[in-house]
Amino acid sequence: MTHDPSVSVQRDAEGRLRHLITLEGLTAAELTGLLNLAQFYLRDSGDLPARDQSLWGRTVANLFFEPSTRTRVSFELAALRLGADVVNLDMQSSSRVKGETVLDTIYTLQAMHADILVMRDAEPGLPAYVARFVAPHVSILNAGEATVSHPTQGLLDALTVRQVKGDFAPLRVLIAGDISHSRVARSAWQAFTTLGVAELRIAAPDDLMPGPREFADATRFNDIDRAIDGVDVVMALRIQRERMSGAHIPDDASYHRAFGITAERMKKARPGAIVMHPGPMNRDVEIASDVADGPQSVIQRQVANGVAIRMAVLATIARNVQSRRHFQ
Ligand code: CP
Repeated sequence: MTHDPSVSVQRDAEGRLRHLITLEGLTAAELTGLLNLAQFYLRDSGDLPARDQSLWGRTVANLFFEPSTRTRVSFELAALRLGADVVNLDMQSSSRVKGETVLDTIYTLQAMHADILVMRDAEPGLPAYVARFVAPHVSILNAGEATVSHPTQGLLDALTVRQVKGDFAPLRVLIAGDISHSRVARSAWQAFTTLGVAELRIAAPDDLMPGPREFADATRFNDIDRAIDGVDVVMALRIQRERMSGAHIPDDASYHRAFGITAERMKKARPGAIVMHPGPMNRDVEIASDVADGPQSVIQRQVANGVAIRMAVLATIARNVQSRRHFQ
């Protein structure tokens, strides 16, 4: 039983996904369906997704109130590959800097017949809040919400693991670093636990470890050398200094010595273990540069999978939601 309002607001009266705000509450079958559709888009040409016209006649608007490279560009590429019209609002030159509310910004785009609004924002709860006010033909896709949720990142991480490792059931997965500020960690935890990994470990210095009410059933470590022992998947996380009000952690070099994912530490993981990072990376802080670029790294594959996953999400939402012509 969840009390997260995002879980209920993202479904329509028939229980279909109308928005994607969180992975919480999605079933293993729903997650697997999205991974399968993403894999279908990758089927013909390796990492370059195929095209179709699932979004023909629809308009996708990217509203990123926080910086992004991977998520914003991959949503744009995904929407274009599905035949949508795409607008990217430059938030630095939008009327929000003149004090317009986020709802008025949304209503403005809605009046211009935007159908799918892809949102990133530093304010927790904003995607679910906005989703309550949009017109019936409009969907909200969460592209990164404060420290709370980054559902398409969780999906692309799961797809990457499945491609390399196959079955989730035997896997030990470690998420390491700045867990407390990480929306990536929260969505990855939701995806991997629903998909049934054998063990999910989280490792962080004490100041960067979330409270006990979060990450239920995860095994917690404050010692990276113990945490990495015998795992199949190591996901390193960026230290998010921009979200820290005080000095939670030592300088970069000290952090790297104490907690960085290095080649020496990777020897403690299982043979064949993979290394992931959502990006952007602080090289030689949370992850050694030679590990990020080494043979165990699947970081570029994660980026490539981002386009296919976002195609799968966009196509699924477009299939579930009637276009505005239906409501006219
Ligand atoms: N992983 C991720 O969200 O990267 P961007 O901030 O570049 O979108």
